[in-house]
Amino acid sequence: MTSSNNAGLQVRKNAATPRGVGVMCDFYAARAENSELWDVEGRRFIDFAAGIAVCNTGHRHPKIVEAIRTQLDQFMHTAYQIVPYESYVALAEKIVACSPGNHPKKAAFFTTGAEAVENAVKIARAATGRPGVIAFTGGFHGRTLMGMALTGKVAPYKIGFGPFPSDVFHAPFPNPLHGVTTRDALRAIENLFKSDIEAARVAAIIFEPVQGEGGFYQAPPDFVRALRKLCDEHGIVLIADEVQTGFARTGKLFAMQHYDVLPDLTTIAKSLAGGMPLSGVVGRAELMDAAAPGGLGGTYAGNPLAVASAHAVLDIIEDEKLCDRAVMLGNRLKARLEALKSRVPHIAEVRGPGGMVAVEFCKPGTTTGDGEFAKAVQKRALERGLLLLICGVYGNVIRFLFPLTIQETVFDEALAIVEDALLETAGASK
Ligand SMILES: Cc1ncc(COP(=O)(O)O)c(C=O)c1O
Repeated sequence: MTSSNNAGLQVRKNAATPRGVGVMCDFYAARAENSELWDVEGRRFIDFAAGIAVCNTGHRHPKIVEAIRTQLDQFMHTAYQIVPYESYVALAEKIVACSPGNHPKKAAFFTTGAEAVENAVKIARAATGRPGVIAFTGGFHGRTLMGMALTGKVAPYKIGFGPFPSDVFHAPFPNPLHGVTTRDALRAIENLFKSDIEAARVAAIIFEPVQGEGGFYQAPPDFVRALRKLCDEHGIVLIADEVQTGFARTGKLFAMQHYDVLPDLTTIAKSLAGGMPLSGVVGRAELMDAAAPGGLGGTYAGNPLAVASAHAVLDIIEDEKLCDRAVMLGNRLKARLEALKSRVPHIAEVRGPGGMVAVEFCKPGTTTGDGEFAKAVQKRALERGLLLLICGVYGNVIRFLFPLTIQETVFDEALAIVEDALLETAGASK
């Protein structure tokens, strides 16, 4: 069978691929340019999913395409651990220089976000000689075994996949909308130290400065400061998982630049390489050097084409002032959503730093999440040609991951679709 229309491809997909690889859309990509995507039947979509926060620099930015082409003409793969190349070293130098903190740092590259998380935990364990890791409810850290163990959301990520690595514990993440204060979260960690694992056996605390899959909840500054203090007191490594928050999305290159304390290790991936698979860990040099030679890496880790793409991404973010653009576009979107609150009582909160914007829906007048409302808005937007993603532990949050390079006219068109979809859904669910 060689059908290439959407319906035909859907039949082939269902026959050839497992349902566990859940797929949101029933249409198939043919091409994409900046913030727009066309399917195999020529239908156009505005892409506010951006490959799940990967294309902050848009689809096929000409500078990225050129950088990859140039690298393609030189070599595609040598395995950095066998025959190294200058571009990897230069990228490590750049990431060390642009990541928060002026202390000695080193960076290593991998392929996926989950792999970056795995390696950050390995580094923390090697450096401390301790096993324990504390993560947070609602957090997402990937689909590998340790990634799943750290992830604080059971469905759909953990169902049927246990047992998970041991010595992983969860504390609640502060969430004022749902009644969890910084104090509650810190007290829960103190309780873990009493009931589950002594602080002296904890290697790392891992958190997202803004929870991504969990619902775009931003860690309060007093919470992050307290985590830093706790880690300093007990010799624990503080890992900021910036896989989703990184590379200009929040209005800063790294979300941790919104805080006045530093992490020890930071995981990076997604928009680092604008669509090429590349991830990394950057952090304190003495921690990064804890693993013995050969303990870190991977066959494809730091692939030359992906590294070339990352160099172009960093240049584009600077040249096109994408941090400023994230703030400007994010503010416009937030203002538009706020203005709709009186007519859409399901809007419980509009939030997020810079361009990492989300809207949470609850049953009007309550804080009971309304996932059905979010799904209906997403469906209506898609019918009008706008791709939106849902997140949140209750599936009641819509996150907006527009490319930061989006043209203003396309952005305005998308905002109008969001507004129509919200108003129509609110009208229908009265
Ligand atoms: C914060 C965070 N960490 C880790 C991951 C896992 O990344 P990957 O899917 O590339 O393995 C994700 C993916 O969404 C993420 O958002």
